[in-house]
This record gives sequence, structure tokens and C-alpha cells, in this order.
Amino acid sequence: MGKLNVLDHPLIQHKLSILRDKNTSVKEFRELVGEIAALMCFEATRDLPTEEVEVETPVARAKVRRLAGKKMAVVPILRAGLGMVDGILQLIPGAKVGHIGLYRDPETLEPVEYYCKLPKDISEREIIVIDPMLATGGSASAAIDFIKQHGGRHIRLMCIIGAPEGAEKVLRDHSDVDIYVAAMDEKLNEHGYIVPGLGDAGDRIFGTK
Ligand code: PRP
Ligand code: URA
Repeated sequence: MGKLNVLDHPLIQHKLSILRDKNTSVKEFRELVGEIAALMCFEATRDLPTEEVEVETPVARAKVRRLAGKKMAVVPILRAGLGMVDGILQLIPGAKVGHIGLYRDPETLEPVEYYCKLPKDISEREIIVIDPMLATGGSASAAIDFIKQHGGRHIRLMCIIGAPEGAEKVLRDHSDVDIYVAAMDEKLNEHGYIVPGLGDAGDRIFGTK
């Protein structure tokens, strides 16, 4: 069974408090999404394997540790997931970036796919799927399905705010996937919005409302 991890580092919580505020500007919102993504990435990659190598410092030879194992891929769910990409690439500049375009039908709340482009060697990569919001879990679960259909195997999901319904769905549909959120909120409202949440993440990142 996958694990649900709540990353409640004080810096993440502080930034999240500003993100939730309806008076936060589009510019500040976008910057905060990137900063939170970077901080979450730092925490969510704690278990990456390392190996010992030797380097020559200006003073002596030293045994040091470097990342070992699989290379990384980041897969944002369009459109709101795009806001998290740069923050992650700051920490993992060598990661390849795949894209999955999904929107949630406002009536049925079911995810509708409109784009999918993944790195060719996705099956050999450690994959982080990113989306600020995990509401019903329909979008995240469908995105993980697509990645698995393309051969992806080692997948973790990183969302800024989750709802219990969404986390349960993803863990039920994908028992091999660990989830990382900065906060688990109370519930969904009748329109499928997370309560208290932060509103529509895509609109707040891109200023479309
Ligand atoms: C939002 C959000 C997730 C999805 C979460 O995207 O960014 O992708 O809803 O909802 P779910 O867990 O119920 O599927 P939206 O469909 O609003 O598209 P956008 O990113 O283009 O704004
Ligand atoms: N998508 C969002 O952007 N916000 C929510 O609260 C739920 C889905």
C-alpha cells in the first residue's frame, strides 16, 4: 500500500498560509507555488539512494555521497501543475519533464485528457507527478494510469493541498504510489472544490479569473 505523507515543515506551512489567502496577488501566488514545490521536493526525495564515490578536494581525497539509481522525471498535470515545475527543476536540474493535459469536466468532475507527452525512457526513471490540488483524485489517478500505460513504474505524487477523498482514491487505484501533500484539508464541497483549500489553483497561477 502506498503511503500518505504530510510535509508540515514550518516554512512550507507559512508559505501555504499566504497561498490560501484570497487577497494574495497572482504574482505572489505563482512565486509561492514554485517555492513550496521546491521545499516539498526536498522533503519528498529524502529516500533517494546515494552511493559513495571519491573526489579530490584542494586538500585531500574525500569519500563523498552522490545520487545513485534511476534518473528523474517530473510530470506536471496541465495546467496548474506547470506552476510547480521550475521549483523542482531548481533542485533537480537534470530531470526530464513530461506533460499530461487533463481538465476536470465541471459537470461530471471526471478528468478529460487532451495532451500526453512523456520522456521516451520514462520506464527507467523515478517519476514525480505534480499538481497543486488533489480533490476527487480523478485527475491524478488518470495521469498515473497514462504514465503506467507508457511504461512508467516508479511513481510518486506531489500535491500542495489534498482532500481525503482524493488521497483515498489514488491509494486505492495505485497501491504502489506514495503521496506527498503540504496539507490534508477537511472535505470537498458540492462543486468538487477543496474546503477550505485555496480556490482554483490554475486560475490563481495564471490570472484567468
Ligand atoms: C484542477 C487541479 C487538478 C484537478 C483536481 O485542475 O489542478 O488537476 O483540478 O481535481 P480532481 O482531483 O477532482 O481531479 P482543473 O481541472 O481545474 O484544470 P486546470 O489545471 O487547467 O485549471
Ligand atoms: N481544483 C482546484 O483548482 N481547486 C480545488 O479546490 C479543486 C480542484
